[in-house]
Amino acid sequence: MQRRNIRFCNLSNMTTLATVICLSTATLLSVVAGQAGGGHVGDGSSSRCYNDATTIHQFTPTNIDGEKVALSDYNGKVVLIVNVAPFCHFTKQYHGLSKLKELKDLEEHFEILAFPCNQFGYQEPGKDKYEIMNSLKYVRPGYGYTPNFPMFAKVEVNGDNETDLYTHLKAVGGHVGNGNSSRCYNDATTIHQFTPTDIDGEQVALSDYNGKVVLIVNVASFCGFTEQYHGLSKLKKLEDLEEHFEILAFPCNQFGYQEPGKNKYEIMNSLKYARPGYGYTPNFPMFAKVEVNGDSETDLYTHLKASCPPVKLEIGDPSDRFWSPFRNNDITWNFNKFLIDKSGVPYKRYDSEVEPKDIEHDIRELMEEDK
Ligand SMILES: *[C@@H]1O[C@H](CO)[C@@H](O)[C@H](O)[C@H]1NC(C)=O
Ligand SMILES: *[C@@H]1O[C@H](CO)[C@@H](O)[C@H](O)[C@H]1NC(C)=O
Repeated sequence: MQRRNIRFCNLSNMTTLATVICLSTATLLSVVAGQAGGGHVGDGSSSRCYNDATTIHQFTPTNIDGEKVALSDYNGKVVLIVNVAPFCHFTKQYHGLSKLKELKDLEEHFEILAFPCNQFGYQEPGKDKYEIMNSLKYVRPGYGYTPNFPMFAKVEVNGDNETDLYTHLKAVGGHVGNGNSSRCYNDATTIHQFTPTDIDGEQVALSDYNGKVVLIVNVASFCGFTEQYHGLSKLKKLEDLEEHFEILAFPCNQFGYQEPGKNKYEIMNSLKYARPGYGYTPNFPMFAKVEVNGDSETDLYTHLKASCPPVKLEIGDPSDRFWSPFRNNDITWNFNKFLIDKSGVPYKRYDSEVEPKDIEHDIRELMEEDK
């Protein structure tokens, strides 16, 4: 099961965005997502729900006849909830669902609740009971197929108008940041093995920063947040921090194509003469342009993203985000930030809106740590 903006259960597969598949049997209990990396995500087929998940018995979804059904009616039964669609590659799973339901010893103790949804490939186009049930009966799976389990009214399972039951199933509760920042996982490991290329084309061993607190930022020259370069430079200039702190900036063009410069000349001159402009030159190391998300993302960012939960549930509008596949834990925009402790272990992850000056307190805390 692949999903996008997640909640109660770990992601069973890190691939997300528009790819949720209809009718995947693994959908259920195990549903959905939240975190990436390490043991904090499912195995690609299923994920175990969080220990603090709570009952679905308070929900009263509408069935395909337009009647409210109290899910508390299923108290005492094991329930499999599936989002379905008739024109999907997985539609033949209806037969597998019906077979499960027919198992004699299960029958009394088990129910399947099917929720038609048109959000994946427009594969549930039917508008009402007549069209949805006849699609199943006469088209796919066809040959007279009729479900032997309750069908519900068509719903949305993702996005602004998702139905409350699915919000609950997907919820991550405290397993995501507070919108501004997230604390990295306890099992996060050092970044010191990475050797990214700097803007002059030279490999830099991140182990060179052993003993320093490090802030890693993906930057872009033509972004609304580009003015944060000034805030970053101010942090770097704080006298008592200077020796103990470094900022590593990675230009990236995946967000709104806002880092169009192709090399050192173009990128540094964009900063100097365009934005922030007026002679601005960073007082911290600039690295070569990289991808931070998708198939070609750089290994350092794969590690950073695996080390800390997403700061918030939404990645944002796909139309100005340029990578594939979308993953639940992706960098959301230019000027996302990761704070790294003195031993190279990721400590906190911040949203783009968090100003450099608001990170000063955390930097000082890590500086004082006895590591
Ligand atoms: C959600 O529903 C409202 C009201 O029907 C509609 O205006 C809006 O476009 C919907 N949003 C999405 C993302 O479908
Ligand atoms: C997030 O940051 C904003 C702006 O600094 C602040 O007003 C808000 O209280 C912060 N939220 C949390 C949960 O820290």
